[in-house]
Amino acid sequence: NTIWVINGPNLNLLGVREPGIYGSQNLQSIEDNIRKQASNLGVDISFYQSNHEGVMIDWIHEAMEKAKGIILNPGALTHYSYALRDAISSVRIPVVEVHLSNIHSRESFRHTSVIAPVALGQIAGFGALSYELGLIALVRHLEDQGR
Ligand code: DQA
Repeated sequence: NTIWVINGPNLNLLGVREPGIYGSQNLQSIEDNIRKQASNLGVDISFYQSNHEGVMIDWIHEAMEKAKGIILNPGALTHYSYALRDAISSVRIPVVEVHLSNIHSRESFRHTSVIAPVALGQIAGFGALSYELGLIALVRHLEDQGR
């Protein structure tokens, strides 16, 4: 009954990195939040972060065997990684794309997500709450599917 939460490049620097955009919460505190929400919802969470595209692709493959679904913040890979997109298309578990910032209100290169078309849905702009909202949506989807 596990949901994997996978974070991409530079998200290890949250709290330090551009706090005006991403807030002052670090990744550990985002993890703590989502774990609380997970226990309310009765699901287990495994939490991951990597700065390496290939490592993230390996996790997505592994999640196919070990997870019911994925909450994914792909960082900048969102905007150009066809390899990450193909990994998501290759596995049969639902992926919810989340972003701290509202990517649609920022630089134009951030307006495109190559991940969104293969995701169950996208949540952006709510800071750490984006992860919790994504988790609620994913768990509801899995329940509706009877999984
Ligand atoms: C991000 C948005 C991306 O454009 C950016 O490259 C990130 C973080 C977000 O959570 O707002 O690394 O995914």
